[in-house]
Amino acid sequence: CGIVGYTGADAAKGILVDGLKRLEYRGYDSSGVALEVSEGGTTRLDVTRRVGKVAGLESELANLDDASTCGIGHTRWATHGRPSVANAHPHVSCDGRIAVVHNGIVENFQELREELEGRGHTFRSETDTEVFAHLIEDAYAASHDLMVAVRDACSHVVGAYGLAVVCADEPGVIAVARKDSPIVIGMGERGAYVASDVIALIGATRDVVMLEDGQYARLTPAGIAYTDEDGAPIEPDVTHIDWDIDMAEKGGYPDFMLKEIHEQPRVVRDTLVGRLSPSGEIDIDELGLSLEELNDVDRVYVIACGTSYHAGLIAKNLIEAWARIPCEVEAASEFRYRDPIITPSTLVVAVSQSGETADTLAAIRDARIKGAKVFGITNVVGSPVARESDGVIYTKANKEIAVASTKSFIGQVVSLTLLAMLLGQVKYRLTTNQVRMLFRELGDTAEQIQHIMDTQGPAVHEAALACKDARSALFVGRGMGAAISCEGALKLKEVSYLHAEAYAAGEMKHGPIALIDQGFPVVAIATKSPTYEKTVSNLKECEARGAVIIAIATEGDEEIGKLADHVIWVPKVRDAFSAITATVPLQLLAREVAVLRGCDVDKPRNLAKSVTVE
Ligand code: G6P
Repeated sequence: CGIVGYTGADAAKGILVDGLKRLEYRGYDSSGVALEVSEGGTTRLDVTRRVGKVAGLESELANLDDASTCGIGHTRWATHGRPSVANAHPHVSCDGRIAVVHNGIVENFQELREELEGRGHTFRSETDTEVFAHLIEDAYAASHDLMVAVRDACSHVVGAYGLAVVCADEPGVIAVARKDSPIVIGMGERGAYVASDVIALIGATRDVVMLEDGQYARLTPAGIAYTDEDGAPIEPDVTHIDWDIDMAEKGGYPDFMLKEIHEQPRVVRDTLVGRLSPSGEIDIDELGLSLEELNDVDRVYVIACGTSYHAGLIAKNLIEAWARIPCEVEAASEFRYRDPIITPSTLVVAVSQSGETADTLAAIRDARIKGAKVFGITNVVGSPVARESDGVIYTKANKEIAVASTKSFIGQVVSLTLLAMLLGQVKYRLTTNQVRMLFRELGDTAEQIQHIMDTQGPAVHEAALACKDARSALFVGRGMGAAISCEGALKLKEVSYLHAEAYAAGEMKHGPIALIDQGFPVVAIATKSPTYEKTVSNLKECEARGAVIIAIATEGDEEIGKLADHVIWVPKVRDAFSAITATVPLQLLAREVAVLRGCDVDKPRNLAKSVTVE
C-alpha cells in the first residue's frame, strides 16, 4: 500500500495523484484521496475513491477544481477485506470531518470495532483501518486537538501503522504517526509532504525525515513539528536522498529481487499477525471450513506450480509430521490430467502467489468437481484462486515485482506451516503448549533471516564466484533439505541461466555423482537435522571427486568447515523451520551468481511473473 499527503501553497490534487502514480508500481487494487475544500468560510472533506488503477481515480478527480491545497491519498493492496470502493482508503469518521489513510495492520481491530460500535459508531467498510477514523473522532471530541487525538487513538491500537490524518476543523494540518510501517516526511519550497515511500517525494524535496517508531509529525504549509509519544518536541534526523527514480523504486537496492529478499522478515511477521488466539489455537478465520470438517480430512494434496510447488514440498513434511495425514504434492499441470484419488474428506491446498496460474485454477476446478474441499494460499486478495476455493489464507508479502519469487515463497511456507499446525491441532496431535512454542519459534525466524542478511553477504559472494563460470551445479540435501534444495536449484536456473539440478543427497550415488569432476559446484543444505551425518558422508563422496562444496550450515558447526570449501551460516532452528532460514542464502546466492554473470535478475529471459495460459 502507499500513502501520500500534501499541505502547502499549490493545488493538492495533482500532487497527490502524481505521488500515487509513483507508488503504483508496487501494486494497487484501489485508490482514493481526501481533499480539504473551503466554502463560505467553512471547510469540509471531499473524499473520492475508486477500484482499479490510479488513472481511473485521476479521471474522476478531473471534475474537481484545483482550489484545495491540503489532502491525503492512498493506493491499496488489499490485506483485510476485498478490493472495493467501501474498503478503499481514505476512511472517514461518522461526521465526515476526519479522514485517515493507513498502511499496516491493526491487530486488535475486532475488539476496537465492537467497542466503538457499542458507543454508537457505524462502520462502512470491512477494513481494520476504519477503527482509526472512529477512535480519532472520539478523541477529537474530547480534546479538539488533532495531534492529541491521533496520539490517543494510537495508544489504543495494537499493531503496525503508518498513518496520515486530516481534519476539517483544522484546515491545512496533516497529522502523521508511525509504528512498524515506513513514513517519510519532507519540507519542500511550496509546502510539506508525507509519503510511505521516498519515491513519492522525489521531485519536491531530497532532504527527508524517516519517521521513527513512536514519533509523530504535524505538517502545515509553514513547517513541520515533530513530537514523541508524550507530545514533547523532538529534533528529527534529516537524510539527504540522492537516488534517481529507478533506484528509489527499488528502495535503494540495485534490483527488486534483492529488495524483496530483504522484505522477508516483515513478510514472516505480517503473515503471523493475529494467527494465534489468546487460548493458544491457530486462528485462520478465512478458512471457510469448520473444525469438524477439518478433523475429517484424511488426505491432503498440495497443488501448485514453480516456486509455489516447492513451498508444497516443505508443507508435506510438516503436515505428515504434525497431523499424521498423508500428504502428496503435485504439479498442478499433472494433477489436472490425472485421475487422483479424491473423496469428500480429501483436502486440496492450492498454492499460487498470483492467484491466477492457469494450471492451478484448472486443478482447483477439477478437484471441486470430484468432491474435494479446496483451500487457496495466495498473495492476491480477490484473485481467481481465492474466489474459487472454499477458503483461503492470504500471504502478506505485498506485491512481488521480480519475476523469480522470493518473499512470496517465504509467505507461502509460513502460511502452510500455520495450516499444518492447525491440522495437527484439530487432529489432537499437537497440544496448545506445543503450538504456542512452535508459533513463537516461527516468529523468531524473522530475526534469524535478518541476521543471515546482515552477516552472510561476503560468504555468499565468495560462493557465487565459485559458481559463476560453472556449466552446471548440483543442490543436495535430505528431508527438509531435499525440498529446500529444489527451490535453490530453481532460483539459480531462473536468474543466472546456469544449469542446476536438485537431488536427494542419498540418491547422488545412483547417477548424478557421475557428473562431478574437478571444480563442479555442489550446494549442500547441511544444517543440523536428524539426517545431518548422512548428508555429510554424501558430501565426502563429492569432495573425493573434486567437487567444490558450498554448504549451508548451522552456526557453530565445526565439522562442516573442514569439509566444505565455502560455508554460508544460518542460525540454529528447529528442522521444521529450516526451510525459512536456509532458503534465504540460496536466494542470495542465485542472485549474486546472476549479477556476476551480467543477467537481468528482475526479468529473466523467457519467464513471466504469472502464467495464465496452459
Ligand atoms: C511462474 C513464475 C514463478 C512462479 C510460478 C507459479 O512460472 O515465474 O515464479 O513460481 O509461475 O506462479 P503462482 O503465481 O501460481 O505462484
